[in-house]
Amino acid sequence: MYLQKRNRILRTNSSIRSLVAETVLTPNDFILPVFVDEGENVKHEIPSMPGYYRYSLDLLVKEVKEVWAMGIKSVLIFVKAKDEVKDNTGKEAWNPDGLMQRSIKAIKNAIPEMLVMTDVALDPYSVYGHDGIVKDGEIVNDETVDALVKMSLSHAEAGADFVAPSDMMDGRIGAIRKALEATHFTKVGIMAYSAKYASCFYGPFRDALDSAPGFGDKKTYQMNYANRREAINEALQDVEQGADIVMVKPAMAYLDIIREVKNSVTVPVSAYHVSGEYAMIKAAAKMGWLDENKAIIESLTSIKRAGADLIATYFAKQAAEMVNRQ
Ligand code: PBG
Repeated sequence: MYLQKRNRILRTNSSIRSLVAETVLTPNDFILPVFVDEGENVKHEIPSMPGYYRYSLDLLVKEVKEVWAMGIKSVLIFVKAKDEVKDNTGKEAWNPDGLMQRSIKAIKNAIPEMLVMTDVALDPYSVYGHDGIVKDGEIVNDETVDALVKMSLSHAEAGADFVAPSDMMDGRIGAIRKALEATHFTKVGIMAYSAKYASCFYGPFRDALDSAPGFGDKKTYQMNYANRREAINEALQDVEQGADIVMVKPAMAYLDIIREVKNSVTVPVSAYHVSGEYAMIKAAAKMGWLDENKAIIESLTSIKRAGADLIATYFAKQAAEMVNRQ
C-alpha cells in the first residue's frame, strides 16, 4: 500500500512520542488546595475525599514544606471555621487573628517563597452556608462585595500573595483591586474565579468544610452549566476590573469553557479540578475499575491541553511525584 503520509510514524515509540508531545505536565502547573482546622496535631481524613486531609496548622506547615520540596509553588488556603464564629455578616473573615490569617502567616514564615493564595467568599463563615450575606432569603450583592473587600484586605495584611474570590458576586474584582490600590497593597494579585458554575461536583468540598448551603442552592450567583458565552463575558469583565489570573471551575466537564476563555483573554487561565472530580477517580480506583495514576495524569494533561496554564488540584502532590519520576 502506498501512503503519502503515515501518521503512526510519530507514535512509533515512547522516545518519538515524548519529542512531539504538545502538552507536558510539571509541578509548576499545580496549585495545591489545603484545608485548615483549629487545634494541634489534627489530621482528619475527609470521608468523601479519601487520602485528603484537614490539617491543624502545625501539621499543615510540615505538609506544605514537603510539597515545596517536590516543586509545588503555590497553595490555596481554605479554612474550617468553628460554628460559634459563624453569622450573617461574615465578620470572622476579616478577624486579624482568624484561622485564615494565622494560616497565611504560618506558611509564609515557614516558606517565604511559597505563593500563598486565599479563598475569598463568605461560605465558611456564614450560618447559611452561602457565599454572601443573606437578606429575606436572597444573597445580596453589594453588601457582600463590601465584606469581600474587607476580607481581601485582611488577607493582604496577613501576607497573602494572591486573593482568590470564589463568590461570584458582581463587581467584586474591581472593588477589591481598588481597595488594594488605596491601601498600597500593590503587590497582591487577584486570581478571579470568573467562570464558576453551580456544580454538583463541589459536594465533597462542602463535606470537608461543613459549608453546604442551609437553604436553596447557589444558582443565583454561580453560573448555569448550560451556558458558554456567559463565561467569556465573566472572564473579560474580570480582566478589565483588574484580575491577574482568571479561573474556570470545575475542569473536566468544562474543557470547552477553558478553551473558550483561553482564546478570549491574554492573562493566564487557571482551572479548578474540584473535589467531586477527585472523588470520582478515587472511588473508581478503589473499586478496581480505573488505574488511579493513569487517570490522574490523563485528566490533568487534558485540562492543560484544553488551555489551563495553572491547575488547582487535590492530586497536586500525587501528580508532582509521578511527573518528577518521569
Ligand atoms: C466556596 C468554594 C467552593 C469551592 C471552592 N470555593 C464550594 C462552593 O462554591 O460551594 C469548591 C471546591 C471544590 O469542590 O473542590 N466559595
